[in-house]
Amino acid sequence: MNLAVNKITKRYGDQRALDGFTLQANDFSCLAFIGPSGGGKSTALRHLCGLEIPDSGEIRLNDSILPAQENELLNFRKSIGIVFQSYNLFPHFTALENVTLPLVQVHAMDAKNANSRAMELLGRFGLSNHANKRPAELSGGQSQRVAIARALAPDPSILFLDEPTSALDPEMTAEVLEAIESLVADGKKIVLVTHEMGFAQKAADQVAFIANGKVIEHSTSTDLFNRPQSQTCEKFLSRVLKY
Ligand SMILES: Nc1ncnc2c1ncn2[C@@H]1O[C@H](COP(=O)(O)OP(=O)(O)OP(=O)(O)O)[C@@H](O)[C@H]1O
Ligand SMILES: [Mg+2]
Repeated sequence: MNLAVNKITKRYGDQRALDGFTLQANDFSCLAFIGPSGGGKSTALRHLCGLEIPDSGEIRLNDSILPAQENELLNFRKSIGIVFQSYNLFPHFTALENVTLPLVQVHAMDAKNANSRAMELLGRFGLSNHANKRPAELSGGQSQRVAIARALAPDPSILFLDEPTSALDPEMTAEVLEAIESLVADGKKIVLVTHEMGFAQKAADQVAFIANGKVIEHSTSTDLFNRPQSQTCEKFLSRVLKY
């Protein structure tokens, strides 16, 4: 997967959330965004997902420019998967319905196929016995795995995840990270924002360090963690890896 982001800028009032954000990531399997709070990771990810349109600049995914018109963006969003920090499951539907509903309503799949696709994915993430529970009856880790199953169900070309484990305790975090790692091993392309440095180091092949609305550094995860080039990144890593 190739991603080329050319000088995107986004302001909210007088706040510059993205300030000439530029990134050229070629042939990545799993690209991780790391960096200080408020640096622009989530904002950048929302732009890559087509959930927001930049004030200026351009984004290309595998050489196609992301559209800037809302109606074309809708089609683009159908072709990708998105998972956020707080699961965003429909609270009044079961785990199974949460996965099947978008398949039927958004992707026009027939109910029978949607059901078998959903059960296959729930099974893959160890959720077969929880298919008929509503989100309130699931643990955080289970809910997040349902959210991942839902995002994967239409077989998106790429999956975007924003801190998928930040609301979870360590054991559930491990559950979800294992699920993501298995997707990477299967060849699914992933861009994720994470505070889990161990995971970024192990599962991501490329890492971008983001601060002040820009990519300060981008390289292979081995290089970025072992030989950070900028002082900002080095300081950030020494602080977060200390505990
Ligand atoms: N919708 C918005 N309206 C106003 N300001 C925003 C909005 N979204 C983001 N910002 C601002 O843009 C900056 C970047 O925010 P962003 O959420 O992208 O940071 P982040 O790197 O994801 O941080 P964290 O690690 O805490 O999640 C912040 O200063 C934030 O306050
Ligand atoms: Mg964020």
